[in-house]
Amino acid sequence: MEKIVTKNEKETQALGYELGSQLKGGEVLALCGDLGAGKTKFLQGLAKGLGIKGRVNSPTFNILKLYKINGNKNVKSFCHIDAYRLHSEKDLISLGVEEFFKDNKTVTAIEWAGKVKKIWPKDIISIELVHVGENSREIRVK
Ligand SMILES: Nc1ncnc2c1ncn2[C@@H]1O[C@H](COP(=O)(O)OP(=O)(O)O)[C@@H](O)[C@H]1O
Ligand SMILES: [Mg+2]
Repeated sequence: MEKIVTKNEKETQALGYELGSQLKGGEVLALCGDLGAGKTKFLQGLAKGLGIKGRVNSPTFNILKLYKINGNKNVKSFCHIDAYRLHSEKDLISLGVEEFFKDNKTVTAIEWAGKVKKIWPKDIISIELVHVGENSREIRVK
């Protein structure tokens, strides 16, 4: 497990960037942490690291957003899920997420992943963000 404390949103984004640029495709990331913990900030950096040029925001209202990636050798799409408003795993399954989980050219990231724990793949990468101060967050990756 890796444990890092960031002191501002830029550092959190930089950490996301670093992870994003290392992903090969097929990974599923579970982001856990309270409102404002920095899940979306982390994923904005991660998306940049994957080669996405445009802006990434929380897909709270539409649950799932799919980004196409050009120019990355392996990863062709990024599936961004926000489980905050979901009542059950079934809602995600009906959106076809299990196909994204299995696709080795897709990276999937789930905000509020604790809400859909039942459908976590075995080898999910867990990223926990904890408020430790106004502008500091402890980020644990395992
Ligand atoms: N170290 C930090 N890392 C990430 N965000 C931070 C940090 N310090 C302060 N912030 C602020 O916290 C908020 C995090 O928002 P966001 O990433 O949308 O959270 P979440 O998606 O977890 O609800 C932003 O307003 C950001 O500016
Ligand atoms: Mg968010």
